[in-house]
Amino acid sequence: VPTIPVPIRATRDASYDVHVGRGALAGLPAILRSACPANRYAVIADHHVAELHGERLMGLLSDAGLPAHLVTFPAGEWNKSREQWATLTDELLRARLGRDGAVIAFGGGVAGDLAGFVAATYLRGIPYVQVPTSLLAMIDSSVGGKTGVDVPAGKNLVGAFHQPCAVVADVDLLATLARVHVAAGLAEAVKHGVIRDAAYLTILEEPRPLLAKDLDRLEAVVARSVAIKAEIVAADEREAGVRAILNFGHTVAHAIEARSGYALLHGEAVAIGMAVESALAESAGIAAAGTHARIVTALERCALPVRVPEDLATDALLDAMQTDKKTRQEVVRMALPACCGTMARDAAGAWTHAADGALLREALDSNRG
Ligand SMILES: NC(=O)c1ccc[n+]([C@@H]2O[C@H](COP(=O)([O-])OP(=O)(O)OC[C@H]3O[C@@H](n4cnc5c(N)ncnc54)[C@H](O)[C@@H]3O)[C@@H](O)[C@H]2O)c1
Ligand SMILES: [Zn+2]
Repeated sequence: VPTIPVPIRATRDASYDVHVGRGALAGLPAILRSACPANRYAVIADHHVAELHGERLMGLLSDAGLPAHLVTFPAGEWNKSREQWATLTDELLRARLGRDGAVIAFGGGVAGDLAGFVAATYLRGIPYVQVPTSLLAMIDSSVGGKTGVDVPAGKNLVGAFHQPCAVVADVDLLATLARVHVAAGLAEAVKHGVIRDAAYLTILEEPRPLLAKDLDRLEAVVARSVAIKAEIVAADEREAGVRAILNFGHTVAHAIEARSGYALLHGEAVAIGMAVESALAESAGIAAAGTHARIVTALERCALPVRVPEDLATDALLDAMQTDKKTRQEVVRMALPACCGTMARDAAGAWTHAADGALLREALDSNRG
């Protein structure tokens, strides 16, 4: 048969800036003009964030002469769904947003992932800007270009890589964030400390000012976490290798979230996941003794749960892990630490490890309560 090559060599430069700081929102119109010029902007936010901060954002845009309209959806992880993706997409079509339009994702990680996925797919993809408003979104989810929705089979199983044109993280917006969501955000910060920076972890081991929402200190934490995430994502945009370390704690977390019907916050599930996965890493001889204890202590100080809820059976969690995106030939794979600050490679040099079935079961059985 004749063979016709299609020589596509991607040359796209998907670089962008993350603007972190108190009051950063005031700079959004200028950032939009330079990094994401558009004829019209669709601001996608959950009801709760829209009620708290929507007027301010829409006022900023209209004062700057930037045409925009607000589209909202109900808050909560269970709305990061195909159904909401469809509803939002239809609303943009009804509003006749064209290819010269752009999306502004305004809210926590749910709004960011959902609006990002709308932008990734709308008219085969239009540009978007992330304006994170939760600590978790500022620290983690707004950077890196992973977008998508949860489906009945599991978390984040349908989605796309779509990098934003810019990220604007105004730490002052955290003034209205509930304490449980501050704690949930700190779980991802602890993850960044464990995977890359033991000195950063030391700061998170004294989290009282952070939980009390000392905004200057939170700003420093957001900046440090974004720097760590940016460095890893820049090295491996599509998770062919090192980016997998950002999934520390997440194999177990995603199973817990899915099997609990999203009764736990993502950050809470990640905290439990890091406790379980670090226990496994130690029992498998991958992590140095004391790694699990240090991680658990840090998480507990951040007011986070570290034990698997009693009503989630180990078998159900093991079953849910089979749909994890890192699972290969039914073997669950995990990113595991060598010690606090450094992740371990497996014997073949990969950044994920085949989890020993018996040790994983043991880690899930013993970290309960
Ligand atoms: N794409 C990624 O790389 C990535 C990384 C980490 C997490 N995530 C995803 O992020 C999601 C979790 O994000 P989340 O914890 O931000 O959840 P969320 O978006 O549901 O926000 C949490 C709650 O805080 C409220 N809120 C947000 N900002 C507020 C503010 N300034 N003041 C008052 N209330 C505010 C929201 O209305 C919501 O009720 C999960 O779906 C997770 O999978 C994605
Ligand atoms: Zn996460």
